[in-house]
Amino acid sequence: MDRTFVMIKPDGVRRGLTGSILNRFEQKGFRLAAIKLMHIDRSLAERHYAELKEKPFFGELVDYLTSGEVCAMILEGEHAVANARSVIGKTNPVEAVPGTIRGDFAMDVASNVVHGSDSPESAEREIGLFFDEQAALYLFPTPQVAAS
Ligand code: PPS
Repeated sequence: MDRTFVMIKPDGVRRGLTGSILNRFEQKGFRLAAIKLMHIDRSLAERHYAELKEKPFFGELVDYLTSGEVCAMILEGEHAVANARSVIGKTNPVEAVPGTIRGDFAMDVASNVVHGSDSPESAEREIGLFFDEQAALYLFPTPQVAAS
C-alpha cells in the first residue's frame, strides 16, 4: 500500500481545523496510519524544507512552521501522494479550487494550512524526519508481530 506524509500547519491547528482536514482525507478513502501533535524546532523545519533553502521566503516559511503546534500524519492508500495532493489543492490558495482543503480553508500562500509530500521519495524522507522507528515497526509489522 502506498503512503504519504501530511502535516497540518500551525494556522490549521490554531484555527481548530484538524478534525475537518483529517476528515477530508478519510472521506477520500485514506487510512490514517500514524498521527502526532508536535511543536517542531527550527532545525527540523529547516531539514524538512531543505530544498527551498535558497528561496527568498525560506526564513518566513521556517518562522511560520515553528510558530505553533503542527499535526503530522502518515496516510495510506492507492496513489497516496497524488491523491493527497488533489485533496489538498494548489499551493497558492488563490488558485486552489473550492472543494479542496486550501480552496476552502486558506487565503494566502504563506499560511496555506497543510503540507503534502510531492513524491514517494519525499514522503519516505519526510516520514523519516517526523516519525521514529517504533512508528515504522507499527506501520509494517513483521509476520511474527502481526500474528501475536
Ligand atoms: S517553489 O517556489 O515552486 O519551489 O515552491 P512551491 O513548490 O510552490 O512551494 C513549496 C513550499 O513553499 C511554500 N511557499 C511559500 N511560503 C511562504 N511564502 C511564500 N511566498 C511561499 N511560496 C511557496 C509553499 O506553501 C510550499 O509549502 P508546502 O508545505 O511544501 O506545501
